[in-house]
Amino acid sequence: MISYPPEPFRIKSVESIRQINRADREAALAAAGFNIFGLRAEDIYIDLLTDSGTGAMSDRQWAALMQGDESYAGARSYYRLKMVVDKIFGFRHFIPTHQGRAAENILSALLVKPGQSIPSNTHFDTTEANIRARGGKPTNLQIDEAADPSNHHPFKGNMSIEKLVAFIEATGPENIPFGMTTITNNACGGQPVSMENLRQTSEVYRKYEIPFFVDACRYAENAYFIKLREQGYADKPLLEIVNEIFSLADGATMSAKKDAIVNIGGLFAMNDDDLFQQACNELILREGFPTYGGLAGRDLDAMAVGLTEGLEEAYLSYRLGQTAYLAGGLLDAGIPIVEPPGGHAVYIDAGGLLPQIPRDEFPGQALAVELYREGGIRGVELGSVAFAHPDPETGEMQYPLMELVRLAIPRRTYTQAHMDFVIETMARIVARRDSIRGYRITYAPQLLRHFTAIFEPL
Ligand SMILES: Cc1ncc(COP(=O)(O)O)c(C=O)c1O
Repeated sequence: MISYPPEPFRIKSVESIRQINRADREAALAAAGFNIFGLRAEDIYIDLLTDSGTGAMSDRQWAALMQGDESYAGARSYYRLKMVVDKIFGFRHFIPTHQGRAAENILSALLVKPGQSIPSNTHFDTTEANIRARGGKPTNLQIDEAADPSNHHPFKGNMSIEKLVAFIEATGPENIPFGMTTITNNACGGQPVSMENLRQTSEVYRKYEIPFFVDACRYAENAYFIKLREQGYADKPLLEIVNEIFSLADGATMSAKKDAIVNIGGLFAMNDDDLFQQACNELILREGFPTYGGLAGRDLDAMAVGLTEGLEEAYLSYRLGQTAYLAGGLLDAGIPIVEPPGGHAVYIDAGGLLPQIPRDEFPGQALAVELYREGGIRGVELGSVAFAHPDPETGEMQYPLMELVRLAIPRRTYTQAHMDFVIETMARIVARRDSIRGYRITYAPQLLRHFTAIFEPL
């Protein structure tokens, strides 16, 4: 059994949770149309739906909230955040946004024209949808190893440099308004990207004069993986590693709800002066004045403290250790997962676990439902419900690499006993896996269907 460093904090405030009985869980599932997004949070025992905005803020963050300056323009909170953002990211400009997708919306609104392509190692669903909403074509060019859940590549989130070059040559750089890399690569198992790969990606984009943006949601976890796994980084301070990452790019979007450990917030950073000016205008139109960007002053202060805490090595060592513990327990119980585990979540290979369910009957969806039915646990499908879509030209269904269920671990929130309960629940599901059946969608919107789709058991 893997052990991990004890929490580098002690608990000062708690929130009660309870497990409702099986009959009530059945009723809750039916009422939610078998979509776990439709469940009431109070009916969930252990909520691993997302690590986004669900972390526990520290005493220092709660104290910082009290210092929030709610001035409409030029608030002290903004300048405190700016000092931290400048130190970590080092871009010439940044604007706060209320979430990561708000930053993606502004980036897409300003740069994407209909028919243009945007390559990435793997776009996250909101990024992909924001690009599509502007008529663009998101393209994922991850390394082949990413498609094999049992492959132990240390940086399985990497972009395939060969595929990227071939794609740019075939598409024409003039049809690519920008390129991206997501760190860590959430849609591909939360896997890290190496510094070497970021450097090579940057060189390719620079050669073809394509602006390069990093989706930086989990930049701190990614930097810690670089420190642990990449030659030449073991003795480097984390701040130096993150500075090096961002020096390779022209800008970044970030949901601060991840590695900045806040309940709401995001940012959009860039070097280009014109882009900054246009982004400020978009921000004013849709989010708010550039010194608050759709957030309260207190949110900016919590973000400033959270960005600093999220880069602490003792915290990151415990954080990655807890994820590895959950992964190890699931593997010991014979459950196939994406290996090695990433930073923020364990991804169960639902396609491998439930081979009797074809992709168009959604094995990941079936497993997510069973997790709630068996133990009141909420995970999320990241497979064909979230990512399959018809090819715009041929109409043929395009499937994602894998059918996954993600168990995302909120930061500083659950203990080892909670992880043990998840492992035991999954082991009970495995014992009866042959009897589990798929689902049919009875309603789905055009974009981001997994949030609101309604299902019927087959
Ligand atoms: C990699 C990645 N990019 C972007 C986002 C979007 O961030 P938000 O939920 O704050 O809009 C997320 C959120 O889960 C994410 O994981």
